[in-house]
Amino acid sequence: MLKLSVGAIALVLYLPSTAFATVPEWGQCGGINFTGDTNCVSGTVCEVQNAYYSQCLPGTASVTLTTGTAPTTITSTINPTTSTDTTTATSTATPPSATGFVKTSGTAFTLNGSKFTVAGENSYWVGLMGYSTTQMNQAFSDIAGSGATVVRTWGFNEVTSPNGDYYQSWSGSTPTINTGATGLQNFDNVVAAAKANGIRLIVALTNNWSDYGGMDVYVKQILNSADHDLFYTNAAVIAAYKNYISAFVGRYVNEPTIMAWELANEPRCTGSTGTSTGTCTTATVTAWIKEISAYIKSIDSNHLVAVGDEGFYNEPSAPTYPYQGAEGIDFDVNLAISSIDFGTFHSYPESWGQSANETAWGTQWIADHATSQINAKKPVILEEFGVTTNQPSIYTTWLNEIVSSGLTGELIWQAGSHFSTGDTPNDGYAVYPDGAVFPVIKAATAQLKART
Ligand SMILES: *[C@@H]1O[C@H](CO)[C@@H](O)[C@H](O)[C@H]1NC(C)=O
Ligand SMILES: *[C@@H]1O[C@H](CO)[C@@H](O)[C@H](O)[C@H]1NC(C)=O
Ligand SMILES: *[C@@H]1O[C@H](CO)[C@@H](O)[C@H](O)[C@H]1NC(C)=O
Ligand SMILES: *[C@@H]1O[C@H](CO)[C@@H](O)[C@H](O)[C@H]1NC(C)=O
Repeated sequence: MLKLSVGAIALVLYLPSTAFATVPEWGQCGGINFTGDTNCVSGTVCEVQNAYYSQCLPGTASVTLTTGTAPTTITSTINPTTSTDTTTATSTATPPSATGFVKTSGTAFTLNGSKFTVAGENSYWVGLMGYSTTQMNQAFSDIAGSGATVVRTWGFNEVTSPNGDYYQSWSGSTPTINTGATGLQNFDNVVAAAKANGIRLIVALTNNWSDYGGMDVYVKQILNSADHDLFYTNAAVIAAYKNYISAFVGRYVNEPTIMAWELANEPRCTGSTGTSTGTCTTATVTAWIKEISAYIKSIDSNHLVAVGDEGFYNEPSAPTYPYQGAEGIDFDVNLAISSIDFGTFHSYPESWGQSANETAWGTQWIADHATSQINAKKPVILEEFGVTTNQPSIYTTWLNEIVSSGLTGELIWQAGSHFSTGDTPNDGYAVYPDGAVFPVIKAATAQLKART
């Protein structure tokens, strides 16, 4: 999930108006056209993230002002990319036989030996909001209406005081997997609803961000530390994460509706928190990716594995921040890891200091990842992207670049449905079936399916 990382963000806190709060930790509690409950559960407060989205975050009511730091933009004469030639994007590998699981063959995805087009949307919320199976079905049906084949979602929610849908709860340093109706049985319903609508799932297993718990909960509970980067290096934390993976992945080993597992949503280190040890580099995260991806393969040989990262390059003298390796990610090195089946990247030029040049910058970002795809001989997908202005026009340009560059696939951030109880969460990027972006996505999906 995206959170804005640029500029000063004033967090205005609403005081709960009744003693009986109903919105769970991390739930939406406000925003433009939001009609749901605005009372946060005890121990959390409703904070404005942006005009479209307020969220119940841990804490007690007070007024806080946090100031984000804009990414550094270094001027340089060095061109970060070397080639945009994609004419050789062909596969010579033999497609796997009929297994019912999505596989890869060169830079393509396959299903039962035929090309499988990855085009769709993100819905982190489908298994986290207490939605009924009817609502889950409507969400997937709305998405499938664009021709979508794949939805990316969250397979995690770490809590310290159980509430709503969650997958693991912590008491001190002891985690307990929630296998009940608000836990893995709820995720069974997500899988069933996706399957009923012909959708495959990409499932991320933890979060860099503190939304829905994520890495920082493991580090805090096990080590009583706020050092985010220990998630990647501490043996006890790594063992606990593997234990969670064992339970979650193990449950779905034979389920072909799962297309892929992702190690984390947007993993980052170095500078991630004020208390970072400062020793985490791209090599630290690469070593973690090798270990965790190999572990997943050791317990589940059916499913694909990807990182779930933003696709940052590691070229310190490149002109713009996402190419400079400052967040601990080296896209090309990570894509070369044998237990990583395909590459993932995101595009948020507004949050990455490229607002004045977002169309062109984003187009080049896609072209550069299409080049990485060819070099690695593995599929690469733009698995999250968003702008908040001129969406139909910018998305059309970017999707045209995806189609023409040969980039394997795309998933927009994020799906939206109008439920009878109110709209699904909208952080300013939601794509509703009756909105202006939906036909743009639908047309691009058709082009991707027609591409040979
Ligand atoms: C809010 O709802 C109104 C009425 O349905 C609609 O016209 C408007 O576009 C919505 N605003 C946003 C930002 O979604
Ligand atoms: C793929 O093959 C499996 C196993 O033979 C079969 O059950 C499934 O229906 C096939 N799926 C598609 C989409 O062809
Ligand atoms: C990764 O997560 C940490 C902890 O929640 C957060 O402080 C940080 O902003 C995230 N990384 C970056 C630099 O975006
Ligand atoms: C916009 O981005 C493109 C692609 O990265 C780059 O070639 C161009 O120089 C940029 N323009 C400006 C004004 O920064």
